[in-house]
Amino acid sequence: MILLDGKQTSADIKVEIAAAVSEIKNQGKRAPHLAAILVGTNGASMTYVGAKVKACELVGFDSTLIDLPVETTEETLLAQIHTLNDNPAIDGFIVQLPLPKHIDEQKVLMAVHPDKDVDGFHPMNVGRMALDLPTFLPATPYGIMELLERYKIPTSGKQVVVIGRSHIVGRPMSILMSQKRPAGDATVTIAHSRTTNLAELTLEADIVVAALGIPEFLTAEMVKPGAVIIDVGITRVPDETKKRGYRIAGDVHFESVAEKASYITPVPGGVGPMTIAMLLKNTLLACERHAANSFI
Ligand code: GUN
Repeated sequence: MILLDGKQTSADIKVEIAAAVSEIKNQGKRAPHLAAILVGTNGASMTYVGAKVKACELVGFDSTLIDLPVETTEETLLAQIHTLNDNPAIDGFIVQLPLPKHIDEQKVLMAVHPDKDVDGFHPMNVGRMALDLPTFLPATPYGIMELLERYKIPTSGKQVVVIGRSHIVGRPMSILMSQKRPAGDATVTIAHSRTTNLAELTLEADIVVAALGIPEFLTAEMVKPGAVIIDVGITRVPDETKKRGYRIAGDVHFESVAEKASYITPVPGGVGPMTIAMLLKNTLLACERHAANSFI
């Protein structure tokens, strides 16, 4: 079994991005600038946004964190988004999800200008992705594609089962892997909570992408020997032996599945760090387009 090391791969990508930033600065241009809006105090969201800001510093990007209280109205949030849309110093920005229940997520995602939508969540960018047009790919699926490509894992003609149909991971993952592109050309099945014969499907799969958000759901009995396993789960599971009171669990029962898999992503250190690296890559792309005045 070979570990798909997202920590190392993302570090490699960050070195590549930092080199591109140096080049931009050498040309007398300003650094790429990413902004993030965080509403409320969701612990996991605070951790993720903090990691995104730290990653910006590491590669030489400017970053702005807009921290709004949980009671922020939808109107105030939309006004903040319009301010970022109109600010020429900002290349791209994200609104960290989930949002508090009183805010309409769809309305918010649609308010982000597609040229600054480095999460790739705006319907226009989702449509462009589905049609294989240049766009910002959503960072988690993009990170998985990059990991498969860099490890030269064959995907053409392979059977892939994606478990989970979320707009952020499962759905775009299924679209990308079925397309004619690096890490694509696969035959993809998308499974979800209403799938009745899941183990039958996963037992046939050459590649399984587990993105359903249930800790240690995928067990060894469900996996074909030699399969490639991508674990997108990051759930906080209470654990009193840990100082912080919880551990991070993936959607895959790593111990048992690792024995059968040819390649597997660990949690943490697999897909998570790749997501951040690809958000940086999208921001760099947004900055380059911005400088060249050539938007999508
Ligand atoms: N919440 C979980 N994943 C993501 C992501 O990729 N982007 C944003 N904005 N929020 C998230």
